[in-house]
Amino acid sequence: MSRLIIVSNRVAPISEGGPAAGGLAVGVYDALKETGGMWFGWSGDVLASGQPQIQLEEHGPVTFATIGLLRRDYDQYYRGFSNATLWPAFHYRADLVQYDRHDFEGYRRVNGWLAHQLVPLLRDDDIIWVHDYHLIPFAEALRAAGVKNRIGFFLHIPFPASQVLLAVPTHHELVKALCSFDLLGFQTKPDLRAFCDYVVNEADGSVMQQPDGLTRVEAFGQTLFAGDYPIGVYPDEIAELARAGERGKPVRTLKATLHGRKVIMSVDRLDYSKGLVERFRAFERLLDQHPTQRNNVSFVQIAPPTRADLHAYQDIRLRLEAESGRINGRYAELDWTPIWYIHRQYERAVLAALFRASQVGYVTPLRDGMNLVAKEYVSAQDPEDPGVLVLSRFAGAAQELTGALIVNPLDIDGMADALAMALALPLAERVARYRDMMAQLRENNVSVWRDRFMRDLTQIGDKRRAALPLRSKAAHEAVQGQDQG
Ligand code: G6P
Repeated sequence: MSRLIIVSNRVAPISEGGPAAGGLAVGVYDALKETGGMWFGWSGDVLASGQPQIQLEEHGPVTFATIGLLRRDYDQYYRGFSNATLWPAFHYRADLVQYDRHDFEGYRRVNGWLAHQLVPLLRDDDIIWVHDYHLIPFAEALRAAGVKNRIGFFLHIPFPASQVLLAVPTHHELVKALCSFDLLGFQTKPDLRAFCDYVVNEADGSVMQQPDGLTRVEAFGQTLFAGDYPIGVYPDEIAELARAGERGKPVRTLKATLHGRKVIMSVDRLDYSKGLVERFRAFERLLDQHPTQRNNVSFVQIAPPTRADLHAYQDIRLRLEAESGRINGRYAELDWTPIWYIHRQYERAVLAALFRASQVGYVTPLRDGMNLVAKEYVSAQDPEDPGVLVLSRFAGAAQELTGALIVNPLDIDGMADALAMALALPLAERVARYRDMMAQLRENNVSVWRDRFMRDLTQIGDKRRAALPLRSKAAHEAVQGQDQG
């Protein structure tokens, strides 16, 4: 059997159950721990000088191959082009896009350098699966180094509508680079549709839906395939973690402090894409408009620090601190704090237990590729007495978790109404919604996600041969129709 090589900028923390650095690390680790293989990426170290060296570490069936970044590379590739240009653009925040030509050059240079580091570790029949926006030029770089293996790419974040992508001056180079992969995976059909839209309308390429549901793409002189692969979780594993933590110290402390009050729970990296300010204001609106909720519910926002050396992240932190201070100043009483805003990271097991102890999961990003917190919240619930998920329509998870109360995160009144409804929902309806969502989560768990992608990537040679002649317009409409269905 071929060996699986995962490549991503962020590699999971090696201690299982330890603090996780976002959806990618959690999802990919869950997918890889079953199959085994190698995981290659950044070690998290930034070196002032010298020659970074690959460190190899075996953990069960997974070999971690990690390497540090030089300061200049970190600044241009990670902090600059990846997180000050691509991240805001791909999350529809063209207003926050900062572009520097040197950063883009650095981004390409680091991709080339990382690819060059990986090549000596590769075997001929390895299957290479590259993850996320930091590594868009990675296949191009591997191909230039003569690598012939199958190479797939999965984008964990949204793929923006063409008019937004055009805000990135190097959009053309980026999409061209994507076309060097054999298979592109997106979180949702709208993301896939946005990509196809760019190919057809901005790159003079063609797309065509295949009988098996994949989309064949011809652009920039390349033929490749694309599909939607919504990432999942292991719901029963999370349920078990949550059950095990039920009597643990964090839950006991929470309950002792609450004295029977209800809890609304949110966990997000402190990122401007997460809609935190709007979320705080909607909680305030709930207290405004539903006086009976005052002193009867607390909102716990856990927001671990992230990318704190970028201005936009410092700014959202200040805004959030101001909002929580203002709202608490307005409503707090001697024995009740309305918002608990906690700016630090907790272990996954603790979070699962806290999810189970709360009555509402409040997940309202302005844009999000998938949002695994939404899936983890549902998974962690007590089947006999589940909490309710309030979920943004702009999270990829909203395409699947239709048992949630779906909200528009820009509609503060609508979110306040949804919170009031969630707090009052009768047990029978909570159970029905929970069962519906758990069935979906079990059906599309993280192994299904991995296996579907791997199967398609493995079979890509056959698919190429079987491909029908191109009819770009009709095919594009077919993808659009599929999305609306
Ligand atoms: C999101 C991205 C990941 C990233 C994570 C944490 O989930 O899709 O690629 O690893 O955020 O961000 P960081 O910058 O700390 O890696």
